Amino acid sequence: MNLSKRLEAVATLVDLNKRVIDVGCDHAYLDIYLTLNNNNKCIATDINNNALENAKKNIKKYKLTNKIKVKLTDGLKGIDVNLDDNIVIAGMGTHTILDILKTNKLSNTLIISSNNDIELLRKEVISMGYFIDSEIFLFDKDKPYIIIKFLKGYKKYKKIDYKLGPILKCNLEYRNYLINKYNTILNNISKGKYLLKLKYKYIIFKLKH
Ligand SMILES: C[S@@+](CC[C@H](N)C(=O)[O-])C[C@H]1O[C@@H](n2cnc3c(N)ncnc32)[C@H](O)[C@@H]1O
Repeated sequence: MNLSKRLEAVATLVDLNKRVIDVGCDHAYLDIYLTLNNNNKCIATDINNNALENAKKNIKKYKLTNKIKVKLTDGLKGIDVNLDDNIVIAGMGTHTILDILKTNKLSNTLIISSNNDIELLRKEVISMGYFIDSEIFLFDKDKPYIIIKFLKGYKKYKKIDYKLGPILKCNLEYRNYLINKYNTILNNISKGKYLLKLKYKYIIFKLKH
């Protein structure tokens, strides 16, 4: 089973031997990989029946029908979550992820890769009683991704930690990515918008130093 670079990075954050609940499994590639390589017992869920049928087909192809449970459901509804489980949510937007997290019983370990608004994700999940244990930044097929592992517990954070990530703020590849991104924005700001230009120049300066 060859995973995408992004899902391979998600897999590196999953604890060996633990039960995994993969919310929004789609094709269930992650569950197949974790069952074969990480000794995880997986529950693969999706809200979309077509996605789940596809997941079932793939699971059958790898002869794992008896090992991976599949469930058609919205988020974690109807799943008896244990504190010990690893909950994985990857490939959705922050608002959908937060809706799922806020309306269900959760475990002590959340591994999350959101498509957008990472600052809000960090803020909200931390306010739910978690801290950031690991963060990964990577490019997969030229698209940037961030994957965060949250554990139950408390750590004090500064504003910059929510914005850039307490671990990623020291990651050179991530900082360079942001510098390029903000430089592109800066170059596209129309003449006359001095204050906006100044704001981006300041952000770039702070990222460089
Ligand atoms: C882009 S796919 C990501 C699949 C896989 N997790 C990955 O990262 O490659 C998003 C999946 O989440 C599912 N999904 C969206 N909202 C959901 C919800 N509230 N509960 C469960 N699954 C959901 C979609 O049906 C879709 O299959």
